[in-house]
Amino acid sequence: MNSKIAGIGYYVPERVVTNDELAQLMDTSDEWIQERTGIQERRYGKKHEETPTTMGAIASRIACERAGISPEDVDFIIFATLSPDYYFPGCGVLLQRELGITHKEAGALDVRNQCSGFVYALSIADKFIKSGAYKNVLVVGSEMHSMGLDFSTRGRNVTVIFGDGAGAVVVQPTDEPGKGILSTKLHADGTYAEKLAFVNPGSHGGYHSQKMGEDTDFGYPSPDTYGEIFITQHMIDNGQQYPNMEGQFVFKMAVQKFPEVIHEALAEAGLQVSDINMLIPHQANLRISQFVQRTLKLSDDQVWNNIQKYGNTTAASVPIALCEAWEAGKVKDGDLVCLAAFGSGFTWASALIRW
Ligand code: ACO
Repeated sequence: MNSKIAGIGYYVPERVVTNDELAQLMDTSDEWIQERTGIQERRYGKKHEETPTTMGAIASRIACERAGISPEDVDFIIFATLSPDYYFPGCGVLLQRELGITHKEAGALDVRNQCSGFVYALSIADKFIKSGAYKNVLVVGSEMHSMGLDFSTRGRNVTVIFGDGAGAVVVQPTDEPGKGILSTKLHADGTYAEKLAFVNPGSHGGYHSQKMGEDTDFGYPSPDTYGEIFITQHMIDNGQQYPNMEGQFVFKMAVQKFPEVIHEALAEAGLQVSDINMLIPHQANLRISQFVQRTLKLSDDQVWNNIQKYGNTTAASVPIALCEAWEAGKVKDGDLVCLAAFGSGFTWASALIRW
């Protein structure tokens, strides 16, 4: 028995934010952003009204409807996000409440794997379905990056690439031979954890930077002071509560790991790159997707890119792109679809699906 994606949906907020609009807030330009990333615009959620949970709920309802089930039929929730509504509890339980299905008491799990979060979450769903544990697993990737970005010039290398949005799928068992999720591959290398990270607020207390010999001052009070470590005034004054990224380092790793993990999933399924009908790469940077496309010798109609419209929506990017490709009729019954993602951690992953 395999598992299959029985229904898919996505949601992006209404508000479009152009590169020119960002250039009014920081020293950047439409030309720089488009040339380096391919991004023309992104969406930002409505503050105080939209959250990763509410956006995920809209995408989930669409996915459930398309799977021919009611949210009440969901027997497990897996929610991937790096921008959760709360530090805890996770978005899985908030989504359960938002969908009005708390009385079912279905389990809910949050996955914190950043850009590869959705593919990791899908792999978990696949294993649960194959084990016979569940029949309808709801897998969601949703992000509200716009709430936690540095809109001054200091943060421009990170801020211009991110956008908000959500995607969801319902994963069910299938007994159709050769159909569904054929293989998933998951990898991580924590050596580079800080190359792309959002470290504050957190419980690290400076441990990792000290161990790595980095001279990072987080403004902690004396060692015998309790509290005041999770977040300090110094962090806020110095913008240390924002994400940071060594872009070029991440870029170089990404273009190496994407092809590797795609080949690995193909090898396990006994298939070739030429068998792929549609590659859905995580939308981190158009240049990364183009590099991967060239490396794998795929044609333009074998790769789906939408970063131009939405920026990098992290855990939401793969399900949004997959849903768009499916809605456009570019993912059809019997097609071989490859999902691949790389990001912070570093973590990377792929999934091969016979639609
Ligand atoms: N506008 C104008 N100038 C900028 C901007 C900006 N928005 N951002 C950076 N610059 C400047 C830098 O200050 C630097 O100036 P300098 O030469 O005077 O020092 C110059 O542009 C080049 O900066 P780089 O960081 O080297 O630019 P690069 O060409 O590498 O592009 C980018 C940056 C787009 C971030 C790229 O490195 C990238 O996409 N990296 C990979 C990102 C990725 O894959 N992330 C993984 C997924 S995200 C996740 O997991 C959460």
